[in-house]
Amino acid sequence: MSGAIVVVGSINADLVLQVARHPHPGETVLGRDSVLMSGGKGANQAVAAARLGARVAMVGAVGSDSTATVALAGLRDAGVDLTHVPTVPGTTGLAVVTLSQDAENSIVVIPGANLAVTVDAVDAARDVIVAAQVCVLQAEIPLPAVARAAQLAHDAGTRVLLNVAPATALPPGTLRLADPLVVNEHEAAVILGRPIDSPADAAADLAALGIASVVITLGSHGAVVLEGGRLTSLPARMVVPRDTTGAGDAFVGALAAGLVEGSTILDAAQQAVRVAAASVTRLGAQASYPWKEEPLP
Ligand code: ATP
Ligand code: RIB
Repeated sequence: MSGAIVVVGSINADLVLQVARHPHPGETVLGRDSVLMSGGKGANQAVAAARLGARVAMVGAVGSDSTATVALAGLRDAGVDLTHVPTVPGTTGLAVVTLSQDAENSIVVIPGANLAVTVDAVDAARDVIVAAQVCVLQAEIPLPAVARAAQLAHDAGTRVLLNVAPATALPPGTLRLADPLVVNEHEAAVILGRPIDSPADAAADLAALGIASVVITLGSHGAVVLEGGRLTSLPARMVVPRDTTGAGDAFVGALAAGLVEGSTILDAAQQAVRVAAASVTRLGAQASYPWKEEPLP
């Protein structure tokens, strides 16, 4: 079974450390709790879309260690097709997430098996990429593989949803395949090579690079959508945040799910704002994502 959505990207286990406040460099603090959860930007986006009812296939890799079981649990539970997720020798991707009481996180990622998602691995998954309606990409696997997947998808008429996270300077030729490009303000600043004063100006400057449509997420301020020369601001839903880890991934997954249902980018983004708001009210990335029938903020 392949998916209407194919996600080519990272799969991690997230070791979440709950602390009162983040340690300063050189300082030791005692934490409150620790938990190992399913994560990784690619897997998070796949799970977010699948929980909303989309048919999703994942292209990625896990390691031969016991952590792989945790890393894959959320994908399995959401019914994501794992045919193109081999087990490779070595460690599974690991993210250490330090989460403070005010819901701020800092994350260190050790890529591990995600480095095995190479151009060759993408080529081996060509059939599932070209058969999909939407190909969702991030920047947590080797960048040549991101570029290849975007090109394969684009050439086959598969829509490319490119989320340049973590912030990376991808080649302009790859950025131009995106429709839409989804970035937060920091990622937009890295691509544009300048600080962002106004999200509207940043979206226009990104579009001027030759990108068909642009979405900039703005955390608790929502998002802006630039499509067909029309800019729309979408305010965030008012919620009490508990953990914003993976909010951007919830947004991207929901956006992809909306697009394969036939929604416009704007309508899909409106729903994505609500899905992402739900996600920040609960602990973890995938564990926090709403299922299809769940009421949203
Ligand atoms: P992350 O790296 O944590 O996944 P991100 O920086 O990629 O996040 P954000 O812009 O922080 O992405 O958040 C994505 C979306 O989640 C926002 O566009 C917004 O709709 C929603 N969101 C984030 N934080 C909040 C919040 N505190 N309250 C309501 N909605 C929020
Ligand atoms: O975007 C959130 C994700 O980033 C976490 O799940 C972690 O695995 C890191 O990849």
